[in-house]
Amino acid sequence: MLYHMPTAITFGAGALSELGGLTRDRLRSVRPLLVTDKGIIRAGIAEKVRPQLPAIPAFDEVEQNPKHTTVDRGGEIARELEPDLVIGLGGGSVLDAAKAIALLATNPGRIEDYEGREKYKVAPLPVLAIPTTCGTGSEVTWVSVITHTGRQFKMSIKGPLMYPAVALVDPDLLMTLPPHLVASTGLDALTHAVEAFTVKPASVITDTLALESLRLIFRSLQEAYLDIRKNAKAREGLMLGSLLAGMAFGNSDVGAVHCLAESVGSLYDTPHGVANAVFLPYVMEFNLEAAEAKYARIASVAGIEAGSQREAARRLIARIKEISRDLAIPSFRELNIPESDLTLIAQKSFANNSNPSNPREATAADYLDILRRADQAEA
Ligand SMILES: [Fe+2]
Repeated sequence: MLYHMPTAITFGAGALSELGGLTRDRLRSVRPLLVTDKGIIRAGIAEKVRPQLPAIPAFDEVEQNPKHTTVDRGGEIARELEPDLVIGLGGGSVLDAAKAIALLATNPGRIEDYEGREKYKVAPLPVLAIPTTCGTGSEVTWVSVITHTGRQFKMSIKGPLMYPAVALVDPDLLMTLPPHLVASTGLDALTHAVEAFTVKPASVITDTLALESLRLIFRSLQEAYLDIRKNAKAREGLMLGSLLAGMAFGNSDVGAVHCLAESVGSLYDTPHGVANAVFLPYVMEFNLEAAEAKYARIASVAGIEAGSQREAARRLIARIKEISRDLAIPSFRELNIPESDLTLIAQKSFANNSNPSNPREATAADYLDILRRADQAEA
């Protein structure tokens, strides 16, 4: 059993005030580059950084499901500016882009040249990751997921030198997160924890992290959705749950839910958390025969009581469907995916690197079946 996660974590309400000190004293940076997106700028969150790091240059062009061309452009800018640190401030898309730009700052070529594991020749620049959503986990993982628009494919660029040096995790940054993003990113975190806990590479260490993450997320998600601005306890529980889920799946894996979500995201630009939330209960139904005991353990931390393991697992799946409804997650139908594309989605999901980790072996035909059941559920 190996557990490796070298990122230093600073967690707590108001932790953002430590940014200047962490940058200068811990990371000894004198020329940081900020990577963010226009939404963060509009929300005024980037302005909280500037007093601590005056005159920091910013690359703010990152979009949802970050594209290879955007990352290549960010890499060019980083090569011109020669920063000594990349600070990622945003959701999963921004943090993944920041990690990829840090790689391109010290390595030649384009990001697609580094698809796969440990393809970099030189260590990427250090990254300080500041999540502003409650789902990504990217602040504590070694992977950057970048969409290649030409291939309609989500590339994974990863390696042990791609862990952020520091994760600065401040639940107060969630205060201005709109409810639909609390819902989608919170359900991404829930999916991370469920999949990390049930996939084949899970270990006692990742199980421990995943179970505590699940306990926190079940306790906090709906309250946070209702009023994240006023509910500090729910904010903190959800942010910590998201962090622990990242620490879990980063060392075990994700499974069939993410295989489907990444396929759909690369084809239709569906928000990652929404795609996960849509597929989670249907994949759980498919996995039930292989993961029943573990689902029953999740049910118990979710406060679900049942007479048998099977009953507990079924009630858990029902609860997850109920949470998605409460949080106004669209149905599969509402994603408007053409029926004629389902076979392609199934094939892409089967080819995903994480497919072999799923607790139950899933063929392309199985994925098609899961898609059809999700499609018919709302009929
Ligand atoms: Fe995810």
